[in-house]
Amino acid sequence: MMAHILTLFVGDDNQQEVEQLIRACNNPASPLAAAVKVVGTAASGEDTVRQVNDLRPDVVLVGQSLPDTPGLDVAQRILRACPGTVVLLAAETTSIDLYQRAMNVGIREVLQRPLDSVRVGAVIARIVENERLRRAEWLDREGARAPGRSGVAETAEPEPSRTVRPVPVRQELLVFCSPKGGVGKTTLAVSSAAALASRRFPDLRVLLVDLDLQFGDVGSVLGVQGNCSVADWAPGRVQSADLQEVEARLAYHKPSGLWVLPAPEDPVQASQVDAGTVKSVVEAGRRHFDVVVFDLGTDLSDAAVVSLDLATRIFVLTTLDLVTMREVVKLADIFRRLGVDPVKVKLLVSRAPRRPDLGADELKTLAARTGYPVVGRIPEADGVLRAVNRQELPSFVRADGPFQQSLKRALHSVLPVFGADGVARQSPGGLFGWELRKTRKKGGAGCR
Ligand SMILES: Nc1ncnc2c1ncn2[C@@H]1O[C@H](COP(=O)(O)OP(=O)(O)OP(=O)(O)O)[C@@H](O)[C@H]1O
Ligand SMILES: [Mg+2]
Repeated sequence: MMAHILTLFVGDDNQQEVEQLIRACNNPASPLAAAVKVVGTAASGEDTVRQVNDLRPDVVLVGQSLPDTPGLDVAQRILRACPGTVVLLAAETTSIDLYQRAMNVGIREVLQRPLDSVRVGAVIARIVENERLRRAEWLDREGARAPGRSGVAETAEPEPSRTVRPVPVRQELLVFCSPKGGVGKTTLAVSSAAALASRRFPDLRVLLVDLDLQFGDVGSVLGVQGNCSVADWAPGRVQSADLQEVEARLAYHKPSGLWVLPAPEDPVQASQVDAGTVKSVVEAGRRHFDVVVFDLGTDLSDAAVVSLDLATRIFVLTTLDLVTMREVVKLADIFRRLGVDPVKVKLLVSRAPRRPDLGADELKTLAARTGYPVVGRIPEADGVLRAVNRQELPSFVRADGPFQQSLKRALHSVLPVFGADGVARQSPGGLFGWELRKTRKKGGAGCR
């Protein structure tokens, strides 16, 4: 049942792109037309704020470089006056700094130009679907709080987007690394990515990238082999704006809903992967995914350094032994010299034995010497190796086991997405089900 058409206001002075978007919304052949109606446009910041105040659209798309007022300021004024409006920012170039400032203001998504209607539609679809699920949870909670009142029946037409907090996960780039081999980098990168991808609340699109270029084993751990790898992403080889082309250069792991970019099989190809390659992966990742997870090897290749530079969070893994801890202190020193922002680095204890020789005191010292907090302690768990040998995901085998629970706690402490656990996995549907279904189905076109 079509509830209502979503109203969109476009405040942007790029006339050509605005016209293209309006044409797509007005074209009856386009699925966008059935779901989105453009209710107004403006080419200046002042006019945008004034009209949005009057029209109260569901979604506002704001250009970052409006002639009179910066887009971020326009967005801030809109969100103050009309909280709950979904605001998207269109920018010529994107950067971590811009994303952070945009998220701080409350902007839901930064879209890199040129705008294309499919991408804009997909972004709006995802946001609306998340809102729908949040609304369902919000109604359940409210209903449960008021005994004898049927929350769903009495609030048949609620306005959830005006009352519910935005999801804090957008455009996260996570790196799992360690100066030591065999400490569980791949296990935790894969398990974390799969745990995030399996979330339906919020619905996250997650890409896992293997940057252990010489000995990467993400593909074999997940059982996805393919004719594509990181080496296919040299600058200019993939049109990152084209979702279909991007997905065709990735593998899809169906059980988890995770998109995967394996390391090259061929060492010669591996040696060609450089900083530019990683940048093109990240560019596509930012456009089409909510979270990109990098699994690094022990070496600090150019590719690895770029991922550290662009990361929003870096998990440095340590095991509870003195040799590894000393190496971690050395790595922290290298990070300082590389200019890696210490705020984004977290220590994660991996493969912790039940009765460790070293414990809280040594970890306190490690935290003090590196300046990084310890955010979790993942136990050595019997089931992990067994699961890996069967090409099953450790995070799926026993959802309530100590490995899974401690990993979720650690992730949740930096990306609060596991708080609403127990919310059932729902199939895409609702107003924009077509777009989500289409996006997922495209996995079939990807390499495997
Ligand atoms: N928490 C855990 N409990 C039990 N076994 C684990 C755990 N974490 C990792 N392992 C096992 O330890 C081994 C090494 O793990 P993994 O490959 O993830 O480490 P790595 O740091 O990525 O290694 P490399 O440096 O070779 O890439 C694997 O056999 C894996 O199954
Ligand atoms: Mg590994």
